[in-house]
Amino acid sequence: MQSHKTVSRRGFVGGVATAVGYLTVGSPIDLLAREAPSALELPFGPEEDYDKVAKLSFNENPYGPPESVLKAMNHAFKYANRYGYPDGGIVDAIAQHHGVKPENILLGAGSGEILDVTGSAFASNGKQVVGVEPSYGFVYSHVASVRGTPITIPLTADYRQDIDALVHTTKKHYRDVGFVYLCNPNNPTGRIVTKQEIRQLLDGIPEDIPVLVDEAYHHFVEDPQYATSIPYVLEGRPVIVTRTFSKIAALAGMRLGYAVSQPELIARMAPYVSDSISAVVKWGGVAALRDTASQAQVKQMTLDLRKKTTSELQSLGYAVIPSETNFFMVNLKRDIRPVIDEFKKRDVLVGRPFPPMMQHLRVSIGTADEMRRFMVAFREIMATPAKAASGQ
Ligand SMILES: Cc1ncc(COP(=O)(O)O)c(C=O)c1O
Repeated sequence: MQSHKTVSRRGFVGGVATAVGYLTVGSPIDLLAREAPSALELPFGPEEDYDKVAKLSFNENPYGPPESVLKAMNHAFKYANRYGYPDGGIVDAIAQHHGVKPENILLGAGSGEILDVTGSAFASNGKQVVGVEPSYGFVYSHVASVRGTPITIPLTADYRQDIDALVHTTKKHYRDVGFVYLCNPNNPTGRIVTKQEIRQLLDGIPEDIPVLVDEAYHHFVEDPQYATSIPYVLEGRPVIVTRTFSKIAALAGMRLGYAVSQPELIARMAPYVSDSISAVVKWGGVAALRDTASQAQVKQMTLDLRKKTTSELQSLGYAVIPSETNFFMVNLKRDIRPVIDEFKKRDVLVGRPFPPMMQHLRVSIGTADEMRRFMVAFREIMATPAKAASGQ
């Protein structure tokens, strides 16, 4: 029997966004197309089908956790029957890793939970979140679901986050803004906000407005103009930095992420967390923080394969947005929706559409073999001219 597996609870997004409404600065976009449930349904049932597809759609780490992390998680299975148990010291380990205090840390079942919690704590019931579009849109849809309002600003012509516009809009709506959202580097474009721009934003907006900086892809960045925003927490600014174990640490299916922020902001967020993190991943997280060698290896393999794939695409005449992450966007110069379906037919899953960038395909970096399969499928699909209706 064919069953459909869905990814997380987030598939409702289009409906909520449409019902509650977004304020968009600039041209309106198709809200229904934003994160339609079908886009998050995996097109396979049995495990064998899952295993055979090249999974280049969710920016995961294709290699899986290293031995050190598997060993720590196996050890923690002996606590599977307990509510209270030794947790490996996960909060202290994270605090130490960043040179902050345990009271600066809030754990979530994935950083996605922390993003939701930030929305619930600061932008529910008539409050607003200000950010760019496209970005990690679940932040906006969650705010909409708790009766807040997302105010989204288009990217600049070179697909960067428009800091001037973010400052201007935040100041304009000052009394109603619950927080500002920056995804750095941004998903889906892979572009960074520079350290100077972060300072410009923080210095430019009223000093009591919290700024949520989502650093899910921090570990892949090479550009020296980028820096983490954690030092601003130490400076006493109302900054919330989120990190995840789902990307470089390969623990997406295990669900662990966290916030680094001021104790006062953590105290406002804490009532909204589900407290549903497993014993197993807490131990895995501690081991992952220690295993910097395997993370460096994953980073190198990812960046090498990104360079190889994007160079091939460029040599075929397709422009690629320069990325600092484990994914990139390529401009297909045609509507990507039929192309995504064609990839699916060839057992290659690629990213969903990110309106209004309907000609840009997001591709995650998989293994060398997955990238080879992607390129074979790409050549085949793009050799067929786009149908007239989808060709603009
Ligand atoms: C920018 C960004 N933030 C947060 C998340 C959430 O990840 P998780 O909940 O697995 O930590 C993702 C997942 O793809 C993401 O791309």
